[in-house]
Amino acid sequence: MAKTNSRAPSSRQQTYPFLLRQEPSSKWYQQLRSHLKKWFAVNKRDLPWRKNRDPYRIWLSEVMLQQTQVVTVVDYFNRFTSQFPTIQQLAAAPEETVLSLWEGLGYYRRARNMHAAAKIIATQFDGQFPNNLKEVMALPGIGRYSAGAILSIAFDQRHPILEGNTFRLHSRLLGVNADPRSKPVENYLWEFSTRVLPQRRTGDFNQALMEIGSEICKPKKPDCQHCPLAKLCAANALGIQSELPISGKKTIYEPRNQALVIVHSHKQFLARKRTSEEWWSGLWDFFRIDTSSENDATNRRTIEAELQEQIGISISLPEKPTKVIRHGVTKYRIRLACYSVAVDGPMPNSKKYSVVTQNELETLPLNITARQFLSCLPDQDC
Ligand code: ADE
Repeated sequence: MAKTNSRAPSSRQQTYPFLLRQEPSSKWYQQLRSHLKKWFAVNKRDLPWRKNRDPYRIWLSEVMLQQTQVVTVVDYFNRFTSQFPTIQQLAAAPEETVLSLWEGLGYYRRARNMHAAAKIIATQFDGQFPNNLKEVMALPGIGRYSAGAILSIAFDQRHPILEGNTFRLHSRLLGVNADPRSKPVENYLWEFSTRVLPQRRTGDFNQALMEIGSEICKPKKPDCQHCPLAKLCAANALGIQSELPISGKKTIYEPRNQALVIVHSHKQFLARKRTSEEWWSGLWDFFRIDTSSENDATNRRTIEAELQEQIGISISLPEKPTKVIRHGVTKYRIRLACYSVAVDGPMPNSKKYSVVTQNELETLPLNITARQFLSCLPDQDC
């Protein structure tokens, strides 16, 4: 007769069938807090937003870090805070200056939201960053994670955080064997992030979790040998740390072809500010259109016809683009064929495009691939 397991599953396993371990004991929680505290005291990185507890600087760092690595953020952070040392100064700035300081960092909605939030703080909160969760979460661009991070780090309030790094770390610590993007898993991990918080110094605790997640518990090759939490980790015990979190639906990338044309004459350029309905809204750009294929010869006639229609110039493009840039925007993998066209005589009059000088282009916030192509053109070519 087949043996049956007479032991009832623990309540945690009943409620959360996706966990590969028992619900951790209170000793496990205590050890985790203690190991993390000791590790952070020694390994805390010296970062410019950690020099004081100014909520504005912490807010800015959290916004910049949302989609970007720490090494990239540092210079942007320093430039931004030199130009705008306070929320009031940010609120009073023109959007173009804010976007210029963000140029190259990507995800420009972050900058626009921050600018809008700064204006609200300047007018409704007398320039002081609010210290109440509800008010913080009502600001543009601030969700549950950012609000928890800012309030815990700046004011030591006891709020949980859950972002990419901690999501991965917790999935491994707890042995989450399910699609990490599913609602029950997300809810469970938020609950865990709350339960695990210490009574005091939650800001340091949250930062330590994120730092271990990004520096040690890396997506591909977790460095378990140097992890202070390795002995507490379910994935490590089972030897499956590289397999967790299990991948949910894979992003399906779509190829897309575009052409960029710099129309110029004697250091003057045709450029336009992109509208709020478009990608890179608020940034400046040269002539850019979608094309149908990867074949430059096939696209030439289409590009020439569009140049005629949108700008009123009749030109013949070279057979091959001067440069091909490959880049990604959301799910699209774009092949961008770049051309430079010198116009003889006066610049055409276009409703959509303005004539801007080379000096102006240096300070305007410019689309990053437009900047890349512009900077590789020899000076005499303009
Ligand atoms: N990633 C996002 N925010 C962070 C922080 N405050 N510390 C370390 N890594 C982070």
